[in-house]
Amino acid sequence: MNTNASNPAVAMQRTHLDGLPAPSIPSGFRLRAFASGDEARWLALQQASDTLSVFTPETFQLKFGTDPAAHAARIRFLETDAGEPVATAAAWFDDLYRRPDFGRVHWVAVHPAYQGRGLSTPLMLAILALLRERGHRAAYLTTGTARIAAINLYLKLSFTPWLRDAQERRYWEAIRPALKYPLAL
Ligand SMILES: CC(C)(COP(=O)(O)OP(=O)(O)OC[C@H]1O[C@@H](n2cnc3c(N)ncnc32)[C@H](O)[C@@H]1OP(=O)(O)O)[C@@H](O)C(=O)NCCC(=O)NCCS
Repeated sequence: MNTNASNPAVAMQRTHLDGLPAPSIPSGFRLRAFASGDEARWLALQQASDTLSVFTPETFQLKFGTDPAAHAARIRFLETDAGEPVATAAAWFDDLYRRPDFGRVHWVAVHPAYQGRGLSTPLMLAILALLRERGHRAAYLTTGTARIAAINLYLKLSFTPWLRDAQERRYWEAIRPALKYPLAL
């Protein structure tokens, strides 16, 4: 995640993955696993969707490594029935979090032409279910406070701020008035 003074990094957590509703994928779309050769599709989707980060052809490998089995197991696309990828997210894992049973929701993006249509909620539910399938008990993510749409999405899905230091509390307080859902700090 690229962050700067106008988009300070913050983190969120969901302390369990129990009782999640099944994702309801809108008609005309389907979920599919990442396959070899999808790197350019992933990059194009991120570049179109995420104007706050800088993506290069190296970004995918830097973030996700080179194991095709892990990519297929943990990265998803939402695509149209015609096979056009319109959104992506990953049910990832790493050791940034304080507990190993926390999986990481990573690199969520919906193409701007498809934003605002309710696609991200089923995508996120599918990713949380996938984390659970892969053996994680809970989830965390990092984001930036300029990403109000994303933070609303995560709050709606019962993520709460994970305060890594005192400064982050101030970052959260600064955006509280802009948020759609209550913030528990
Ligand atoms: C964040 C993002 C994935 C949301 O995808 P989306 O498909 O447009 O969102 P949806 O239509 O499914 O809306 C889901 C929730 O997100 C929030 N949301 C979506 N668009 C919003 C907006 N313009 N302003 C405020 N909140 C918004 C809302 O809470 C909404 O649910 P609700 O209306 O029931 O409260 C999308 O805006 C995106 O790709 N942004 C750029 C990349 C990015 O920031 N990714 C996150 C990195 S951490």
